[in-house]
Amino acid sequence: MSHLTTPAVVMGIGTGLTKLGFAGNDSPSFIFPTAIATRTTGAASGRPPPAAKPAFLSGPGGNSSSSGGNLASKRGTEDLDFYIGHEAIDVSNTPGYGLNYPIRHGQIENWDLMERFWENSIFKYLRCEPEDHYFLLTEPPLNPPENREMTAEIMFETFNCAGLYIAVQAVLALAASWTSSKVQDRSLTGTVIDSGDGVTHVIPVAEGYVIASAIKNIPIAGRDITYFVQSLLRDRNEKDSSLRTAEKIKEEYCYVCPDIVKEFNRFDREPERFQKYLVDQGLGRKVSVDVGYERFLAPEIFFNPEIASSDFLTPLPEVVDTVIQATPIDVRRGLYKNIVLSGGSTMFRDFGRRLQRDIKHLVDTRIHRSEELSGARSGGLDVQVISHKKQRNAVWFGGSLLAQTAEFKGYCHTKKDYDEYGPGIVRQFSLFNVP
Ligand SMILES: Nc1ncnc2c1ncn2[C@@H]1O[C@H](COP(=O)(O)OP(=O)(O)OP(=O)(O)O)[C@@H](O)[C@H]1O
Ligand SMILES: [Mg+2]
Repeated sequence: MSHLTTPAVVMGIGTGLTKLGFAGNDSPSFIFPTAIATRTTGAASGRPPPAAKPAFLSGPGGNSSSSGGNLASKRGTEDLDFYIGHEAIDVSNTPGYGLNYPIRHGQIENWDLMERFWENSIFKYLRCEPEDHYFLLTEPPLNPPENREMTAEIMFETFNCAGLYIAVQAVLALAASWTSSKVQDRSLTGTVIDSGDGVTHVIPVAEGYVIASAIKNIPIAGRDITYFVQSLLRDRNEKDSSLRTAEKIKEEYCYVCPDIVKEFNRFDREPERFQKYLVDQGLGRKVSVDVGYERFLAPEIFFNPEIASSDFLTPLPEVVDTVIQATPIDVRRGLYKNIVLSGGSTMFRDFGRRLQRDIKHLVDTRIHRSEELSGARSGGLDVQVISHKKQRNAVWFGGSLLAQTAEFKGYCHTKKDYDEYGPGIVRQFSLFNVP
């Protein structure tokens, strides 16, 4: 097969979850934890000794030209002595294995582990030959250019991939929102709120360009909300207050309410709001965990962060407003009108509705004040928060949309470009022209 006919590979590797698949598809083929288990040296385990390291793992500069030998060694991938994803978490419960998370707060932290993680993602999960595919990888905003170069070096030299595009996650999230009926034109102007497992970013984008100086990140994301649920379960001495249970409760039972005082009262009036979560502990054992006020209190930490922390106190709607106010005045209207949600931690019911209300309130208050001061009437400002069906894996889906276009390969750097000009070429990518 040649890379002219094969679909591009889309890899969205987040702090918490990895999404892998092929361009043109509606959803990723694989979603699993961004975790890798490796053998800890010196620890005894009943397992066979590690398989020999194949040639293509020998790192940048390895002999990528002998593709015949390469192919043979790839077949041995499954014997390697490390595991990724769910398997990594399972095996880490046995002695002799250590669990690692190669990404922290959205950025690659351990390149050696990342390389192995990519290797397994490509050969064991996607089962494709990288020389036959173009790759779209995603990066968080403000990713240092050196990280791009490292990524290119591994993609081209270790894996020999045919072509590469590294896209900013926020831009892909904007493209994903085109599926919403509220979005009239396929513009790449908007404010993206991307909240995943390890980081929440608010990113203004004007015509495909990230306005880097105005970006803000918030140290509250999925993992923090899970810890908060866990702390409430522990305070009540629930029979199971594991992270897994806390996460399940968060994902299945939590929602955003309009007013927490009223919501507390509502729980007291309507006892059916308290629920029970049945945890299957294996071997036929089930325990019941009560689910109560955390249903609305946990996601409330986006709106009233002081509930859970004393370090970070700015509510998310205020951060969004500050971000937009820090952009050039001529783009602000477009940024308020198209506030796009992306990532697992924006999935709480009514999250978008509450954000829209609170941001609108901040904007209206400011307009009102300036009208009073100047005596002039203003035309008002439209605030719209876009929730849509592809929000959960918006970054991946946006990548899938853009990488399936006829133009995509023209935007990529190829293996030939890389060999000719070196890793520096990936510092620049052309912006997608919106069809
Ligand atoms: N229905 C849901 N309601 C609330 N949270 C959810 C829901 N589904 C998933 N999540 C949470 O979303 C998070 C994963 O989101 P996502 O895949 O966007 O993150 P990521 O890309 O891995 O991380 P990051 O973007 O921070 O690098 C997890 O914390 C998960 O518990
Ligand atoms: Mg993410």
